[in-house]
Amino acid sequence: MSTRIKLALLFGGRSAEHEVSLASARSVYRVLDRERYELIPVYIDRGGSWHPPERSFPLLEGEPPFPAELHRRPKVGCAALEEADVAFPLLHGPHGEDGTVQGYLTLLGIPYIGSGVAASATGMDKVLMKRLFAAFGLPQVPYRDFTRSGWVKDPDGIARSLLEGLGLPLFVKPANLGSSVGIRKVKRPEDLPTAVEEALRYDRKVVVEAYVPAREIEVAVLGNEDPEASVPGEVVPHNEFYDYDAKYTPGKTDLLIPAPLDETLGERFRFLALEAFRALDARGFARVDFFLHRETGEIFVNEVNTIPGFTEQSMYPKLWQATGLSYPSLIDRLVALALEDSSGEAEGRA
Ligand SMILES: Nc1ncnc2c1ncn2[C@@H]1O[C@H](COP(=O)(O)OP(=O)(O)O)[C@@H](O)[C@H]1O
Ligand SMILES: [Mg+2]
Repeated sequence: MSTRIKLALLFGGRSAEHEVSLASARSVYRVLDRERYELIPVYIDRGGSWHPPERSFPLLEGEPPFPAELHRRPKVGCAALEEADVAFPLLHGPHGEDGTVQGYLTLLGIPYIGSGVAASATGMDKVLMKRLFAAFGLPQVPYRDFTRSGWVKDPDGIARSLLEGLGLPLFVKPANLGSSVGIRKVKRPEDLPTAVEEALRYDRKVVVEAYVPAREIEVAVLGNEDPEASVPGEVVPHNEFYDYDAKYTPGKTDLLIPAPLDETLGERFRFLALEAFRALDARGFARVDFFLHRETGEIFVNEVNTIPGFTEQSMYPKLWQATGLSYPSLIDRLVALALEDSSGEAEGRA
């Protein structure tokens, strides 16, 4: 028993995806092979403070999260981490998926599942991610980006150039977020300023994209230097778009696995998913999301999620299941990839 791998599971976190993270962590907890792993759960509350395993275990067993502790600064870190052989930061959004926690684990010298600092940070920033995709020649939806100070100086000029350059409808998004938080679809010119102000509540950078009438295709990627791509899946939201409500209310979105696509098209998505993974220099795992234009058949890369939703019912694990890798085996693979990564290439991670 002493040779069990000590796996630190970091979950919760400060972002809007706190609940998703909790659900993912509970799924991992349920299936984790106790003969192989000794679990060190570390709950991060909504205020950003980290909690030791004895306080974190009950949440994995189904108890509701306790209220965030109020400190002037969050209490980051946890002594129990010193024992860990490997960490699984199962956190989504800012302060978890964006390279901050990855940087902390890198400093501590703890190998961890998933992308390093640079890929995590770029994957969280839609503007930087788009610039990288462009450098790799990946197909993208036409877009513009600007900052709060740019908007404040010349809102009318920016609005005009968005409408002239991209037409209507438009999608307005904060650069650094996830789960569709702060994202608005704009159909009338007069609604544009409000949508921009809304996005600016969440970030100082805003991305505006032309609307694409699209099917939404997602591919799971797994690996380090030689990543593999799963079969593609499709999300079919019942709402007007894949908004927060559609993402997290059961029954409001259908997952089609595999996506009903002809083989050539499916292969194209898998190829582009691997290209996007490489463009970001992602590691371990990532889910690559696409738009498939309903009329023209054009494919656009939308984004790479460096810590995809990870409940047993989430797209990422289900795609691997459909490709022949069970949920428990997937966890084993991720741990092996994290440990492989740390043997010799640790410095390269950031
Ligand atoms: N340019 C677009 N055209 C059509 N739908 C879009 C566009 N951009 C975003 N959407 C819709 O909004 C959802 C969330 O946008 P996305 O950029 O993936 O943000 P997040 O990082 O929050 O998931 C998408 O899944 C899709 O349903
Ligand atoms: Mg998305």
